[in-house]
Amino acid sequence: MERENWASKLGFMLAAMGSAVGLGNIWRFSYVVGENGGGAFLILYLASVLVIGVPLLLAEVSIGRKAQSDVVGSFQKLAPGKPWFLAGFFGVVASFLILGFYSVVAGWSMYYFWNYLTGELFAVPSEGYGFIFDSFITSVYQPLFWHGLFMIFTIFIVLTGVKKGIEFANKLFMPALAILLLLLAGYSLSLDGAMEGVRFLFQPDWSVLDDPSVYIAALGQAFFSLSLGVGTMMTYGSYLSKQHRLPGATVGIGIMDTFFAIISGIVIFPAVFAFQIQPDSGPGLVFIILPDIFAQMPFGGLVGILFFLSLTLAAISSSISLLEVPVAYFIRVKKWSRKFASIVTGSIMFALGIAASLGMGGLSHITPIGDYNIMDSMDFVASNILLPFGGLAMALFIGWHFTKQQAFEATDLTNSAFRNIWYLLIRYIVPVLIIIIFLNTLEII
Ligand code: PHE
Repeated sequence: MERENWASKLGFMLAAMGSAVGLGNIWRFSYVVGENGGGAFLILYLASVLVIGVPLLLAEVSIGRKAQSDVVGSFQKLAPGKPWFLAGFFGVVASFLILGFYSVVAGWSMYYFWNYLTGELFAVPSEGYGFIFDSFITSVYQPLFWHGLFMIFTIFIVLTGVKKGIEFANKLFMPALAILLLLLAGYSLSLDGAMEGVRFLFQPDWSVLDDPSVYIAALGQAFFSLSLGVGTMMTYGSYLSKQHRLPGATVGIGIMDTFFAIISGIVIFPAVFAFQIQPDSGPGLVFIILPDIFAQMPFGGLVGILFFLSLTLAAISSSISLLEVPVAYFIRVKKWSRKFASIVTGSIMFALGIAASLGMGGLSHITPIGDYNIMDSMDFVASNILLPFGGLAMALFIGWHFTKQQAFEATDLTNSAFRNIWYLLIRYIVPVLIIIIFLNTLEII
């Protein structure tokens, strides 16, 4: 079967940005920053994006473009008979784990969208938004319904072909989300007590860095948010033809992704302090804070509708990129049709998501890792272990399997002033940093 190709460089950029920008920037970023003490974590996160994330993003996309294959096939094609391709399987497993729970959280967002549409959430309920959120996610059927619906949308877009679906969604809703976030940031900053939130986010309290788990969380967040290490960016890169220039594109994706994260921090934390909610309240944070903001602001109901709609669509452009990883693999290896591959893999992910969703309520006593529930455990294994491992393999592959010339050629860096610094990062610094942080991870689990 003919492989898809992006219509233009813009098509690739939109798809890759759509993949990067999603629940990770808003939902995951804010609660992880809150749990890890604010400013110092933010700096660590930004450093991870700059030193590890962006150089790796360039590496990952380049491998895909050069090989023109999926995450397993790319390694096999460029290094036949060598064990590199095993790293690809980590990516495939990670895509199942991540989309399993990602779709549940995206379902929460859809549920909120629906409840703003019907006006249900306009006024602060007497028990408060926290209570409403908790009773929703701990119930059995409602969250599963929205999770299922979200997965159906994702499958549908992937089976019609990624290109048409996302190019449209991203051109419209990414800018919408950006505008809404900027508007909300302005409003949030005007709340009484907002400055305390600004200080929490930007004034580092270095003492939090004594805890090794903070480094792991920063690295994991960088990988998750940039869609790195799964093979998503490799697969999207494989739909690029040779004549595009990659370094600028990857830096652009990194900047855009970071912009969304920081703005959502400026939306969330001033409000967290203004409404006196604990910054470390966990995964419910944005679902409690945002409705509080909407309830106070003029036209809040309308903003609520638009916001949760945009968030859901941003989640879809990420979820399709996750589903595309195993789908591309199965189409090639098993010769399945795109339709069959999308439905089968999507259904397995749906089943994994059922466990994650029930783990919020009835199955909350099941804690596979430490005191993490099912969803947090899936997230931990994927974001903090599988993705950095995938990233490590990609860095070593470009840094040590390729010759220097091949590495520059694959990344379009041959004539760039930055080529030596990038090479130094990818060959030595990135692998060493990932390994050091890994050793910490082994200690805490
Ligand atoms: N980067 C996406 C987000 O921030 C999630 C994602 C992770 C997508 C890994 C693809 C691969 O929401």
